Amino acid sequence: VDDDDMQFIKMHEYVSELFHHILMHTNEGAEALNYLLERGFPSDLLKKEKVGLAPKMSSFTKNAILEKGFTEEAAYSAGLLSRNETNFSYYDRFVNRIMIPIKNHQNYIVGFTARSLDGAEPKYLNTPETKVFQKRHLMFNLSDARKSIRSQDEIILMEGHLDVLKVKSLKIENIVGLMGTALSEENINLLNRLASNVTLMFDGDGAGRQATMDIGETLLKYGLNTFVIQLPGGMDPDEYIEKNGGEAFRYLVKNEKRHYIHFLAENLLNESMNNDLAFSQNINILTDLLAFVSDEAIKSRLIMHISEAYDIDKSQIESKLPVRTSQKR
Ligand code: UTP
Ligand code: MN
Ligand code: MN
Ligand code: MN
Ligand code: MN
Repeated sequence: VDDDDMQFIKMHEYVSELFHHILMHTNEGAEALNYLLERGFPSDLLKKEKVGLAPKMSSFTKNAILEKGFTEEAAYSAGLLSRNETNFSYYDRFVNRIMIPIKNHQNYIVGFTARSLDGAEPKYLNTPETKVFQKRHLMFNLSDARKSIRSQDEIILMEGHLDVLKVKSLKIENIVGLMGTALSEENINLLNRLASNVTLMFDGDGAGRQATMDIGETLLKYGLNTFVIQLPGGMDPDEYIEKNGGEAFRYLVKNEKRHYIHFLAENLLNESMNNDLAFSQNINILTDLLAFVSDEAIKSRLIMHISEAYDIDKSQIESKLPVRTSQKR
């Protein structure tokens, strides 16, 4: 952390306090606060997470930053201001949005994800890449979750920042959010050093299922024990909790955890039904992946699941298993 980094961080810590104050204690914030409370985000959580509101003004952040003695150029480099490229004037990047601070591994605020309140696109506007906000090195809530991840040897990974916050309010702590839709090599290295088990709990829609397939494969091949909790009815974790309550969610987390290969087998099953070519290809995909399962007990259980679901002999699967060991690094 050099002087520039520290300046970016100070700006973020400062404006976070302002945004948080506006949300919690002003008339301007009342509507947004009410929106969050109605969605089931309790005010002690909003306090702890310093959730805020960037007001509906084009130079609120700019004026606050200038008053505090920072320059517009520095605030622009830190991703807090935008610049008009014809007359080079600066204006607020975040306007009329709920501000969710994102902390780095040293627990400093280095950026925001900001949800629009009036339907403005994009729904979520993030801090652009800066010297201190490099998405490939960051994961949402990792600094708070680290201890619990270590003690449980499990990371639960989600897509949405609000999902992570809602689950935190249930006192489930080992939750981490993706920054965007991709998982970088740096992210995986980080996760791999913290725990041997990762559970994917993405949105229950098509996009979430696809992300589960892709990211799950990467994690498994990397040597992590990879599990999936699939949410019903296209819901995301937040919606599931609002609809079914915290206890039902806890039950899911405790009892409905499938190995990634089990999840994949069931998701590929449909297309194999009336398509023998797909059937044969899918069996090969699944058996190739079994080579990355180092735990023999789980491997044998997965072989049983596949043999039941696809209605073939276990020996058929076993005979296809490549002679290769897990690539655990
Ligand atoms: P979702 O569209 O599922 O949003 O995007 P959400 O988290 O459920 O939010 P609510 O409940 O509608 O308020 C999932 C994640 O994808 C990223 C964000 O990280 C978001 O949390 N995303 C989505 C973006 O980065 N930009 C977008 O415009 C939309
Ligand atoms: Mn979604
Ligand atoms: Mn949602
Ligand atoms: Mn969602
Ligand atoms: Mn099954």
